Amino acid sequence: MFFYLLNVFSIILFGLASGELPFPATICKRDSVDYSACLKQAFEEAFPRFVKGLTEFDLPSLDPLVYEFGKVVFNSGDIHAEVALMNTIITGMAKVQVNDIRSYFLDDIFRLEIDALVPKLILKGAVKMNGTLSIFRIANEGPFNLTANDVSGTWNMTGHVVNDTWIVEHTRVLPSVRKLKLYFDLFQDSKEINNAVVNFVNEFWPPLYRVMLPITSEAWDPWLTGLANKLFLKFSFSKIFP
Ligand SMILES: *[C@@H]1O[C@H](CO)[C@@H](O)[C@H](O)[C@H]1NC(C)=O
Ligand SMILES: *[C@@H]1O[C@H](CO)[C@@H](O)[C@H](O)[C@H]1NC(C)=O
Ligand SMILES: *[C@@H]1O[C@H](CO)[C@@H](O)[C@H](O)[C@H]1NC(C)=O
Ligand SMILES: *[C@@H]1O[C@H](CO)[C@@H](O)[C@H](O)[C@H]1NC(C)=O
Repeated sequence: MFFYLLNVFSIILFGLASGELPFPATICKRDSVDYSACLKQAFEEAFPRFVKGLTEFDLPSLDPLVYEFGKVVFNSGDIHAEVALMNTIITGMAKVQVNDIRSYFLDDIFRLEIDALVPKLILKGAVKMNGTLSIFRIANEGPFNLTANDVSGTWNMTGHVVNDTWIVEHTRVLPSVRKLKLYFDLFQDSKEINNAVVNFVNEFWPPLYRVMLPITSEAWDPWLTGLANKLFLKFSFSKIFP
């Protein structure tokens, strides 16, 4: 019994030490004719398990997904301001639909492109803003929420393969949104002004979204890349993308 336990114990230890936890998704062969279809199916099969988080890989929950803090400076169009998001809870990722996944491997750089659509994303948290939004001057902090419908775009993950490990360096996504509704409370002492600004944003969100998106995407890149690396750094590249 003792030896049996010792064996089990050492198998677990050994397994962990050599990164031998199985990859939590079906493995597809890069030279197979239906590689993209296989990746898509592997993703669809595995994603529900990722949603709640995988503690053995130190992966957090993806729905709800927590964005703790991020600060961005906007300086174009109707917005000239520093905007920080705090303790933002993002829900809706569980319903992601993947239309296609492609991969490219050239000059030691591996790239994964995922065409995805999320029917509805809801963000709730606190926002701190200092600057101007159109004619409004805002320097305050308050709660916000945002509902975005049909968020679709390509997630591009790229990075070098070093020592048979894919090190994701960038995760870029510039999603389009069909409908967006925003609420914030940044003028606590004047509901009228607050409502005027909220209405302004909800009426004119497409141009605002266009100028804010690339900068936000860049700011979120290290966060998303860090999430991806929590998984990919734990496996040999040749094992998960043979
Ligand atoms: C807002 O920014 C201005 C100019 O950059 C600065 O002087 C001011 O202290 C800031 N206010 C807050 C509340 O951070
Ligand atoms: C956003 O906040 C407002 C005010 O608290 C609330 O009326 C609205 O239902 C919230 N929307 C979402 C999607 O949570
Ligand atoms: C790759 O492996 C070699 C030999 O084990 C090591 O010297 C080098 O630092 C490693 N490079 C990276 C980026 O981990
Ligand atoms: C993702 O890659 C595709 C193909 O290279 C490109 O057309 C698209 O603009 C890229 N998207 C982002 C957000 O970088």
